[in-house]
Amino acid sequence: MGCRTRRDVVKLAIGAGFLACAGCGGGGDPGSTTAIAAGKVADYSVGALLSFASWSLFVGRDAGGLYAMSSLCTHQGCDMAGVTTATGPYCGCHGSQFTATGSVVAGPARSALPHYAVNVDPATGAVTVDGTTPVAQSTRTAV
Ligand code: FES
Repeated sequence: MGCRTRRDVVKLAIGAGFLACAGCGGGGDPGSTTAIAAGKVADYSVGALLSFASWSLFVGRDAGGLYAMSSLCTHQGCDMAGVTTATGPYCGCHGSQFTATGSVVAGPARSALPHYAVNVDPATGAVTVDGTTPVAQSTRTAV
């Protein structure tokens, strides 16, 4: 084996990052679907945070109403679907911690989780998430 070049070092660094993040992108991309089925309003008590792993999505309810956010960590994209603590989503790849509404509590992630529009059918109570419509982190759908 010859001496490593600068290019080899970059390749090794990228490879190490990939291995450290082997669980990245486990689910679908919510950003490409307009009506992701997310249960019924009755499924959400205040404080609930449900995980939809096949869409890499969390849907929660607080005092203001329903909200939806990506479960892909904003550090390097590991999927946090189904992995929460008492505080909120936790990323097992490098330890980032988020609040239940997606704000960063502890890095290395620096950005809040992106939020998407939530719609409720008033007749049936069906909850859907529009992954093509990003909204502010403070946006809620009243229920
Ligand atoms: S991918 Fe690094 S902390 Fe989540």
